[in-house]
Amino acid sequence: MSYNIDGKTAIVTGAASGIGRATAERLAAEGANVAVVDIDIEGGEETVARIEDDEGVARFIETDVSDEADVERMVKATVDEFGSLELAHNNAGIEGESATTAEHTKANWDRVVDTNMKGVWLCMKHEIPAMLEGDGEGAIVNTSSISGQTGAGDAPYVATKHGILGLTRTAAVEYAQEGIRVNAVAPGVIDTPVSNRFREENPEEFEQFVQMAPVGRMGEPMEIGNAVAWLLSEEASFATGGLFQIDGGFMAL
Ligand SMILES: NC(=O)c1ccc[n+]([C@@H]2O[C@H](COP(=O)([O-])OP(=O)(O)OC[C@H]3O[C@@H](n4cnc5c(N)ncnc54)[C@H](O)[C@@H]3O)[C@@H](O)[C@H]2O)c1
Repeated sequence: MSYNIDGKTAIVTGAASGIGRATAERLAAEGANVAVVDIDIEGGEETVARIEDDEGVARFIETDVSDEADVERMVKATVDEFGSLELAHNNAGIEGESATTAEHTKANWDRVVDTNMKGVWLCMKHEIPAMLEGDGEGAIVNTSSISGQTGAGDAPYVATKHGILGLTRTAAVEYAQEGIRVNAVAPGVIDTPVSNRFREENPEEFEQFVQMAPVGRMGEPMEIGNAVAWLLSEEASFATGGLFQIDGGFMAL
């Protein structure tokens, strides 16, 4: 199925790998011009090459989403390159160190919160005015998690994924009348480098976690990318402020 996003411009953060790369590829396949945003230069260039091999349009913009000057420059570079901004998937995230609540270091807390939650806010802070400056049309999807609704995970990570839901709902309410829709996706366990690191460190615990989802398997990055493409498209025109579970039934239990 194809979605109505042809010719629009999309920012995808964390697009050098995993879920972000899948979304970038799906949006480009639907005819969007894609700003591939990441701190990982090699992975970002690879995403662009994969899109161009499929005759899509993409440009890598090296950006640290936790740095406001970097984010501001990235949004400006996207509009300069493609002429407008209509779509964004704010997805860059890290899991941080593993520890109990009392054992986390402040340095780890700051790194995870700055990347995952402040990063999403900074991106929306600069994306929304760029969308309003165009023809006032916009759609944003932020990546939360099943950890945004449960205590499954480390405290800083879980806190940021809950926080992303709050940021999503607030922006959705504030900008609904101005034509900008804002939603969040909550992936379950998806087969990406993040989950593979967890699998290598704790194989038994990982397998148990995967089996907790009624479907009994991990999701593929493109199973998130497909959902994000729909949410960003005109076909999702009445969807805003929502949290969309893409988790193999995990949260239905
Ligand atoms: N994989 C899962 O099971 C799963 C489940 C739920 C939610 N998520 C979320 O999905 C998102 C993508 O995760 P993934 O599994 O694809 O992981 P990934 O590690 O494959 O991709 C994350 C990308 O974010 C980039 N990144 C990290 N810090 C950054 C920064 N400061 N600025 C810009 N880019 C930065 C990384 O370089 C990487 O390319 C994350 O927000 C993650 O929390 C993942």
